[in-house]
Amino acid sequence: MSVAICPGSFDPLTLGHLDVIRRASALFNRVIVAVAQNSAKSQLFDAERRADLAREALAESGDQHSIEVTIVPGLLADFCREQGADAIVKGLRGPADLYAEQAMALMNRQLSGVDTVFVLGDPALSHIASSLVKDVARHGGDVTAFVPPAVARALGEAS
Ligand code: PNS
Repeated sequence: MSVAICPGSFDPLTLGHLDVIRRASALFNRVIVAVAQNSAKSQLFDAERRADLAREALAESGDQHSIEVTIVPGLLADFCREQGADAIVKGLRGPADLYAEQAMALMNRQLSGVDTVFVLGDPALSHIASSLVKDVARHGGDVTAFVPPAVARALGEAS
């Protein structure tokens, strides 16, 4: 049984994330969406809320089969080893993402022995980033084209 970890801060989960998670789920038997802390980013939602929103979004879209959501409070590499992961799966929207992801992938491989597999997301979603979506929501804009309905509701309540 192949196991993939889809890590991210998911603050909040977007349609771009969902696209990558679905692609991972087509390639691996079991997918664990790992909600982790990116120390370079400040968070709008706490880890519990981010994980709950990811679960709600997967349930709403009927995608929860063989996909679970877990909070990773510490090092991703430790979690990968504990889970016996075969791969970490990350989505790339373009070259800038690869630039940012390369060091993390090499670090995770050295710490855990687990390789990162990069998948190209749907180009129609390549402009979607959690940070931009939060900014649009904060200024009263409509985010329903960028995030699952559960997340749009949560952003509406938070702004
Ligand atoms: O969605 P993001 O913010 O690009 O995801 C980055 C994330 C959360 C996966 C990364 O910061 C992470 O793995 N955090 C957990 C702590 C850790 O393992 N840090 C070392 C990363 S090489």
